[in-house]
Amino acid sequence: MARVLHIAASPRGNQSKSLQVAQAFLEEYRRRTPNDEISYRNVFTMQLPDFDGLTLQAKYNFLHAQENSDAQLQAWERVEAVIADFKAADKYVLSIPMWNFGIPYRLKHYLDILVQPGYTFSFNPKSGYAGLLPDRPVVAIYTRGGDYAEAAHLDFQKPYMETILGFVGLSNIKSIVIEPTLSGGPDRTTERIEQAIVKAKELARSF
Ligand SMILES: Cc1cc2nc3c(=O)[nH]c(=O)nc-3n(C[C@H](O)[C@H](O)[C@H](O)COP(=O)(O)O)c2cc1C
Repeated sequence: MARVLHIAASPRGNQSKSLQVAQAFLEEYRRRTPNDEISYRNVFTMQLPDFDGLTLQAKYNFLHAQENSDAQLQAWERVEAVIADFKAADKYVLSIPMWNFGIPYRLKHYLDILVQPGYTFSFNPKSGYAGLLPDRPVVAIYTRGGDYAEAAHLDFQKPYMETILGFVGLSNIKSIVIEPTLSGGPDRTTERIEQAIVKAKELARSF
């Protein structure tokens, strides 16, 4: 039995187009592998610990083998819990809207918690950085209001996600890009979503 973790990064509930395509993917996946466990997290409703001065001090104390106060230890335990939850999965489904050319701030918050030395990546002065996660399959579903086919230099969403996932060791990524979801008008949006759902179902058959 595989554990699939779906991380959604839109706060728009049933209105969310990235969620709609992710659900189509997961429905098909569930149909084919009914015994696998699918967990859902939405970064807008998860209790993400603040990544603030207290938490950062705990991080640096660990890095420099300094003692932590009780408050620092507790702050760090909350970070470890988020990392453990992510690492427990065998496969990942991410649904991500573009916000201001990049990713929604709550997803960035989640990633800032997740990407930690000794947990998800390592550093060695000789060999440099290495991801610590096994290269498990990822399906990343991206939505954008506009169309970036002719403006790839403005896309800080997909390249960023691929960079950060690769940094922690996840480079087996299949992507579905849904664009434009706003600027092309409702008919084009519907058409693009329908095309994305076909692709999602196809990917789900070999995930
Ligand atoms: C705060 C915010 C910022 C956005 N910034 C961009 C942007 O930079 N480029 C773009 O093409 N669309 C942008 N959009 C539009 C969304 O990417 C688009 O509506 C997408 O379909 C949202 O996905 P969802 O339906 O899953 O929430 C933005 C939307 C919001 C709410």
